[in-house]
Amino acid sequence: MAFFRTVSFAEVLPAITGAGVMLRAPTSSDFAEWASVREASRDFLTPWEPTWPADDLTRGAFRRRLKRYAEDQRNDQAYAFLIFRSEDSALVGGLTLANIRRGVAQAGSIGYWVGAPFARKGYMTAAVEALVPFCFGTLRLHRLEAACIPENKASVGLLEKTGFQREGYARKYLCINGVWQDHLLYARLQDDPG
Ligand SMILES: CC(C)(COP(=O)(O)OP(=O)(O)OC[C@H]1O[C@@H](n2cnc3c(N)ncnc32)[C@H](O)[C@@H]1OP(=O)(O)O)[C@@H](O)C(=O)NCCC(=O)NCCS
Repeated sequence: MAFFRTVSFAEVLPAITGAGVMLRAPTSSDFAEWASVREASRDFLTPWEPTWPADDLTRGAFRRRLKRYAEDQRNDQAYAFLIFRSEDSALVGGLTLANIRRGVAQAGSIGYWVGAPFARKGYMTAAVEALVPFCFGTLRLHRLEAACIPENKASVGLLEKTGFQREGYARKYLCINGVWQDHLLYARLQDDPG
């Protein structure tokens, strides 16, 4: 029955193009640029992310990360993308669709980051808008969710700009930067206006 369909990209995830950006699955050749952007953006990113393991920016940890992504993708659990600026292919950030629930939910959650030098230039707006047809069309999801700390004005602004509606408030929802933190809950439905 189509409603319960599970989509699986056992091999290659298609690249997705948006306004000024290109999204594709990370590969081992992205390690140096990924680590360099993340290191240069450490102070910008860490207040809003789960605590980085001490070895997070090493090649070994990146290899394990890719293995996890590949397994999640094979199992239709999550799809991880890096975001590249179209004009010069610079790696500007990442966008992941995770925690996919099939069956009667047909839902998934997005998580995202951009490097500090690339912030507030519209790249994540373009990336989210490009990912939406993949989620609702290719993957046939019904609901996209996102959660953010109320003080994260950039994330709140991004979600509201890309058609996500605020649905609730979850106490101590996620452990961010080492602390269980309250989150605003947002969602965009397949038949919501963009
Ligand atoms: C959240 C984040 C991914 C947004 O990416 P971005 O590429 O900078 O976002 P955009 O340039 O597309 O901006 C989209 C909207 O977000 C809001 N926004 C972005 N940066 C903002 C800032 N510094 N202050 C206030 N609002 C901001 C605005 O509403 C903006 O629209 P506008 O520029 O038309 O006013 C980025 O700020 C980031 O990586 N932050 C640190 C990590 C993080 O917060 N991750 C998410 C955890 S939930």
